[in-house]
Amino acid sequence: MCGIIGILGQDEVAGRLLEGLSRLEYRGYDSAGIAVMDGVKIDLTKADGKLSHLIEKVAHNTPVGRLGIGHTRWATHGAATVENAHPHRAGKVTLVHNGIIENYAELKTELECAGAQFASETDTEVLASVLDHLLNQSDTLDEACQALLHCIKGSYAIAALIEGYPDLMFVARNGSPLAIGYGGITSTGHNEIFVGSDALALAGLAARVSYLEDGDSAFLRSDRVQVFDRGGAEVTRETVEMPEEGWEVDKGPYPHFMLKEIHEQPESLARLLREVIDIESGALKDIVPTVDFRGADRIVMVACGTAHYATHVAKYWIERFARIPVEIEIASEFRYRPRVHGKHEIAIFVSQSGETADTLAALKDVQGHVTKTLAVVNVPTSTMARDADAVLTIEAGPEIGVASTKAFTGQMLALLALALKAGCDRGVVAPEMLSALVDDLVTLPRLVSETLALSGDIDQIARNLVQSEHVLFLGRGIQYPIACEAALKFKEITYVHADGYAAGELKHGPIALVDDAMPVVVFDGADALTEKTASNAAEVVARGARMVRIGASVEVCVAGVRTPASSEVVEPFVNAVVLQLLAYQAALAKGTNVDQPRNLAKSVTVE
Ligand code: F6R
Repeated sequence: MCGIIGILGQDEVAGRLLEGLSRLEYRGYDSAGIAVMDGVKIDLTKADGKLSHLIEKVAHNTPVGRLGIGHTRWATHGAATVENAHPHRAGKVTLVHNGIIENYAELKTELECAGAQFASETDTEVLASVLDHLLNQSDTLDEACQALLHCIKGSYAIAALIEGYPDLMFVARNGSPLAIGYGGITSTGHNEIFVGSDALALAGLAARVSYLEDGDSAFLRSDRVQVFDRGGAEVTRETVEMPEEGWEVDKGPYPHFMLKEIHEQPESLARLLREVIDIESGALKDIVPTVDFRGADRIVMVACGTAHYATHVAKYWIERFARIPVEIEIASEFRYRPRVHGKHEIAIFVSQSGETADTLAALKDVQGHVTKTLAVVNVPTSTMARDADAVLTIEAGPEIGVASTKAFTGQMLALLALALKAGCDRGVVAPEMLSALVDDLVTLPRLVSETLALSGDIDQIARNLVQSEHVLFLGRGIQYPIACEAALKFKEITYVHADGYAAGELKHGPIALVDDAMPVVVFDGADALTEKTASNAAEVVARGARMVRIGASVEVCVAGVRTPASSEVVEPFVNAVVLQLLAYQAALAKGTNVDQPRNLAKSVTVE
């Protein structure tokens, strides 16, 4: 969701704040703003819409100062206007916030009764006003800040500047991530301190980083960082080196991050393959050694959006290769229903960002009720990675395009490796079977590259599909979640209504939608269900639907995409690339903002 950056510098900070925000824009792009303190007063610059609007404003009138905060917003309370843009100011306090203050309405009423006035509709302005009010009433800054944290409810990451404190930033975290970065010693012999809503914001700025825990708050000064836990006791949080590589966030030769990330898949999958398989010997590596699948009686997999569809694909693999019953659920539903836990249950949480609020809360909810929690994430420094008992990283590298692509295939591959590990642990996957599967898997990067080369065939189909008001995507078996992911990707970036269905389910209702204006895209798997899928396809053709077939056995005369022949385990990856290119090219033809689709944000840190 929203992105936060803060700098206690030894030099001017405005330019660096904007640079940090440009790394964070993927988290929210409804508006942006910075506040810079020149030692006495705090200068505020805000703009609605894209970060480029703010950059233009700052270029005309650059605020001066060595202490500053910045924010990119994904609107929760109040529309995407300049008034609602962060930072928000109240009296001496200027702050930025990510999250939702749940009791903001009652706090606002109390403040209004005491004479406060508000310029925005946001919960954040209320937060600033409460802190200002508490500062006026308290003897010390410390007392006011602790009182603030006691009276607000909800999730937050906060960074605040306070007039009268020219060398101080107050930060706090509960439920929304916040990292403190420590810079190298500058030429003047001083340190620089940074704060960011993720480590990516601090890339190129900080040399070391530490992560606040839920309930933590901190006073940052250029010569001292004091961190306090929920109870107000001073604590030390581990500081780690910033990873040196893998933080590049430029598009290279591609017009969009999404296209770049689609094209990175042969490399990202090869990298992950090397992590999970000893390519020389063909043996599985000892991934997540602390997770023992032998006694497991159930696996539950929890995720949101695209990551959920990756778990849906993996359910087929785990049940087939490890013979363990698998339950999959979207996190926002999972966390709010009474559940009967298995006796020896392993809970797997899948998330690109490792920060998605619902998935993270679900992880916290099951701790102590399941045998093991395992996080499958892309960001190794994320909260989920730190909170789970064990972690498997998907090695995809930073994913900036809001529509998830390389993370999806990375999640599928990581979960396939887990399925094989579980199958081997339990003696279900015999050595010959493993060897045959590994032989299939090493073809994956090449087959993904060959699929990328089909972009010309896909282009014409994409242009036709995007003319329609609705598109149906169908698949059976393991192709069913692929069809669902295709629909998600398509609607997300083209704004054309799309739905994914199990092909066999169509005639139980949705077939009523089918007429000659309805394109239907069918993912044909080269598996035991091929003929059944073909019959379902015939049923919709008989009702006049415009049919598009995707699969290795598609006849050349049929409208569709003939994918490279691949094995059953590789086929979902090949089809994933097709669905990604289909959505991308359709969005391009329509002229939507591919990397920053409307209303969305990467990393959904509010529930
Ligand atoms: C869709 C998309 C989202 C995310 C979802 C979960 O293209 O990107 O549906 O998959 O918000 O995000 P993570 O994986 O970060 O938990």
